[in-house]
Amino acid sequence: MTPEHIYWTKGKITSEQRELRSGHPGCIVWLTGLSASGKSTIATELERQLFNQGSQVCLLDGDNIRHGLCSDLGFSQTDRTENIRRIGEVAKLFASHGAICITAFISPYRTDRDLVRKIMPGGRFIEVFVNAPIEVCEARDPKGLYAKARSNEIKNFTGVSAPYEAPAHPELELRTDLLGPDECVVRILEYLAAFAEKSRAGGGRPTDFRD
Ligand code: ADX
Repeated sequence: MTPEHIYWTKGKITSEQRELRSGHPGCIVWLTGLSASGKSTIATELERQLFNQGSQVCLLDGDNIRHGLCSDLGFSQTDRTENIRRIGEVAKLFASHGAICITAFISPYRTDRDLVRKIMPGGRFIEVFVNAPIEVCEARDPKGLYAKARSNEIKNFTGVSAPYEAPAHPELELRTDLLGPDECVVRILEYLAAFAEKSRAGGGRPTDFRD
C-alpha cells in the first residue's frame, strides 16, 4: 500500500523517448515453471541473443536475486509472495526505462504473477510458462534439490511439498521436454518481434509508467 503523504516526482524523460532510443518496447518476459524446468537456461541464452542484436536487455534470476535483494526471504508462501512483489517492481522499473527485462523465478502462485501483470501497461507483461512434467524436472535435478526434497531435507519444495499453480492463459507455453533451448528462445524472439511491430503500428505509447 502507498503510504500517506508520499507524492510522485515526475521525470523529464518519457518512456516513449527511452523506447525510441532502445528501439523496442520496454516489457517484462516473465518465465515461470518448476525448478529444473529450464527457465535459467532459456533466460541466459535469450539475454545473450537480445544483447547481440542490440536490444537493451537485463536478466533477473531467482537464485541470483536470493543472494542479494531477497536474501532475507525463505520459501514460505508469504516469503515467495514478497519475493515476487519485489521482483515485479524492479522488473517494472527496468521496463519503464525501455529495457526488455527477463525474469526467471519459479513464481508458483497465480495471484502473485497476476499482481505483476496488473502493475504493467497492457501487453507489456509477457508470461512464459516453461513447462516440463515434474518427472522430467526431477530426472534432470541439476542441483540435487529434488532428492533432498524427497528425503525431507528441504521443506516446502515446489512440486514435491509445495504447490505450483500453472498459468491459465500464458502468452507462451514452452514444453521443454519436447523442445530444445534454442527452439524455445526462437519462439520468444518471434513473440517479441511481433509485439514490437504491433506496438509500432498502434503508436505504442506506454500509458501508465507514470512518466
Ligand atoms: S520462488 O518460488 O520464490 O519464485 P525462486 O525462483 O526465487 O522461487 O527460487 C527458486 C530457487 O531456489 C530454485 O531454483 C532452487 O535452486 C532454490 N530453492 C531452495 N529451496 C527451495 C524450495 N523449497 N522450493 C523451491 N526452490 C528452492
